[in-house]
Amino acid sequence: LAPAATAQLGTQQQADGRQAQRHASHKGSFGDVAVIGGEGLSARGMGMTGAAWLAASAALHGGAGRVMVALLDEGTTLAPPWPELMLRRVHALDWPQLTAVCGCGGGEAVRAVLPEVLARAARLVLDADGLNAVAGDSALAAALRARADAGLSTILTPHPLEAARLLHCTTAEVQADRLAAARALAERHACTVVLKGSGSVTATAGERTIVNFTGNARLATGGTGDVLAGLIGARLAAGLSPHAAASSAVQAHGAAADQWPAHQALTASALAAALQ
Ligand code: APR
Ligand code: MG
Repeated sequence: LAPAATAQLGTQQQADGRQAQRHASHKGSFGDVAVIGGEGLSARGMGMTGAAWLAASAALHGGAGRVMVALLDEGTTLAPPWPELMLRRVHALDWPQLTAVCGCGGGEAVRAVLPEVLARAARLVLDADGLNAVAGDSALAAALRARADAGLSTILTPHPLEAARLLHCTTAEVQADRLAAARALAERHACTVVLKGSGSVTATAGERTIVNFTGNARLATGGTGDVLAGLIGARLAAGLSPHAAASSAVQAHGAAADQWPAHQALTASALAAALQ
């Protein structure tokens, strides 16, 4: 066989292997993802449940076995927008089994649940208001740091402003050396960090830092970050290492945007549904 044909054969065999693995598994093999976020519209809340639904949709399309959503206002009673999603109370989650995606649309309410999330979630993707809460509270930062000592994996997904809050510096300083900023955060919190934006950087202490080259400015629209968090959660739940889950999800998220038809609007919900 010509080299190209051999390479093709290898790819086909890998695909067949994956197919066989899928046939041999049941949905539990792909792991549970619980999205914790989405403040309801209330006296306190700003009505940000959309972010939680987007992350949950991305986790579903990213292959998670089961996806649960725990909205942050216990008073919020909303039907999930897809029948595949299961609503849960935060305090009733089966922490040792699941991968938590926490912060999306969480607002101030996320602060109250973070001690439990940080102490108990087996695997965690922390985004948005979850990151802002940690930035402003040294006890939460210590709880985050303690996860590594307890053998629990964590991925932080800040955009440059969120990274600046965590590092107590300016956004311009983060952007001036994005690799250094991502590595400093990974070191400080003993976890994996995805510093988002053009050329997203994935850093983990002891691993090779990865700069992503997929994606484009069409992603700069509300909700695409929530979609990324959900996709990373699905890959972490499937058993990838934090560094591999984060970097491969960033690559796939950007590639989906690069393949988007020029004449079609790129919305976060359509992006979530297009993931594979
Ligand atoms: N090139 C590649 N990727 C990009 C680009 C770009 N020019 N711009 C944005 N992205 C990607 C980021 O890497 C990240 O994956 O889009 C995603 C945006 O995620 P967030 O910044 O977390 O945004 P999100 O939470 O979805 O939306 C929040 O606040 O900052 C504003 O403009 C943002 O309206 C949005 C809202
Ligand atoms: Mg965001």
